[in-house]
Amino acid sequence: MELSVVTGDITAQAVDAIVVNLFQGVESPGGATGAVDVAIGGAISSLIAAGEIKGRRGEITVIHTLGDAYSGFAPDRVLVAGLGKSEDFDLDGVRSVSAVVARRLRRLNAGSAATIVHGAGIGGLDPEACAEALAEGAILGLYRFDKYKTSSKPTFDETRPTTLALVENDGAKIPALEAGVARAQVFAGASLAARDMVSEPANVLHPTRLAEIATGIANEGGMEIEVLDRADCEALEMGAYVGVSLGSHQPPKFIHMTYEGDAANPDNNLWIVGKGITFDSGGISLKPGLNMGAMKGDMSGGAAAIAAMQGIAALAPTLNVHMVCAATENMPGGGAQRPGDVVIAMGGKSIEIDNTDAEGRLTLADAIGFAKLKGAKRIVDIATLTGAMVVALGNGHSGAFSNDDELVGQVIASGAKRGEPIWRMPLDPISKKQNKSEIADLKNTGGRGAGSITAAHFIGEFAGDTPWVHLDIAATNMGRSVHDWEPTGATGVPTRALIQLALDLGS
Ligand code: BES
Ligand code: MN
Ligand code: ZN
Repeated sequence: MELSVVTGDITAQAVDAIVVNLFQGVESPGGATGAVDVAIGGAISSLIAAGEIKGRRGEITVIHTLGDAYSGFAPDRVLVAGLGKSEDFDLDGVRSVSAVVARRLRRLNAGSAATIVHGAGIGGLDPEACAEALAEGAILGLYRFDKYKTSSKPTFDETRPTTLALVENDGAKIPALEAGVARAQVFAGASLAARDMVSEPANVLHPTRLAEIATGIANEGGMEIEVLDRADCEALEMGAYVGVSLGSHQPPKFIHMTYEGDAANPDNNLWIVGKGITFDSGGISLKPGLNMGAMKGDMSGGAAAIAAMQGIAALAPTLNVHMVCAATENMPGGGAQRPGDVVIAMGGKSIEIDNTDAEGRLTLADAIGFAKLKGAKRIVDIATLTGAMVVALGNGHSGAFSNDDELVGQVIASGAKRGEPIWRMPLDPISKKQNKSEIADLKNTGGRGAGSITAAHFIGEFAGDTPWVHLDIAATNMGRSVHDWEPTGATGVPTRALIQLALDLGS
């Protein structure tokens, strides 16, 4: 879909469909919606009077004008999008409406469409932010992963809508709207890249393929990248990460990408560390079969981290951003590590492997060890780490765990700006004790209670005093359309939050 910003009158657009909106409770539409109402003989106000259009959020009314010859109005269809109550309407509302409208346009087989910028009129929101949210919503909302469907393609045209024009009467606002749309394309484009990686099956997207994708993104964005293989990681004494990789025939790939946005100040840095288990069978502590296929998405943190770098390179904040993804499969092959084994992580801490299915924290321990060795000043790790996260917070929020109030506040704020909600969880000293081992410095499980917190504590041992935030995205990486801009499947969360964070830290 091609997005554009156009100065002019919404009623004069030569497109297949035009999109206007209505807040709940408005009986005689004004502004652009009012102008369209007049142009189509009062159809909108009649439908409001008849009780068919209420302006409720999510409501879309399609009015068929049947085109010029029939009605004297060029566009064949007018879509009236309900925005709900004006006092409740915000940028998430813009994203939602835009996503729902975009999918309806596709179902209607509308090739070209023009829309007013929801929220920017009587909504009173910042026009640039509204244009950005609208464009994000449309791009994100139209996402599908259907590359493996060779038959039973839907009958409508997959490429539609091909064009969507944002129409604004006031020429002075155009540069701001254009800037918003351009930024949205970067944010949403990165999120789609993450979704593609998550959706890809594990036989295709193994660590080697993930490293290739990361290399492509680094090359496109003019970024440095190094990919360490097993021998390199052994030389760096990453015993925890290497231990996880032993049960798989797929070679591990430790990916380190660098965006240099403040070369003169290497300490002005952010390290983004993504969990990169391309398939988590559980290893010798094998998972049950039901829904095991979802564990192809156990590299969602890494996907978001890699994809965020694409957006960061494009938007160029004044900050150095490093990305680390210690990619491997977790498989139960003959070489696999066993429950009861002891491994030594980078830096020397010993870990008793209590359960080989608690592998994410092992890979993150060495990824963070690497970041610290290289001079990390801020670390944000992202991981589909615990099933307990699904129990604790459900699908509404990713969980955040941190040793630094300021950094976690910034991360939560970045998520809120992009509609990727994050909720802070405690790191209490009581549950920390659950990671104690009889025979090693640490154990990789913490027992029944507080499963997400003990996992976070484990990682925290390796972050030490460096300002650090851990995001557990086990319940938010894939879903059933929790937000309208997240079609069923991979969400890309928290790619856009990470880009936003880099912008906020580096401005
Ligand atoms: N990748 C899983 C966590 C997960 C579960 C993500 C469900 C998404 C949905 C992780 O590696 C894991 O297996 N965690 C275990 C830890 C346990 C063995 C201490 C879990 O949560 O059961
Ligand atoms: Mn696991
Ligand atoms: Zn896992």
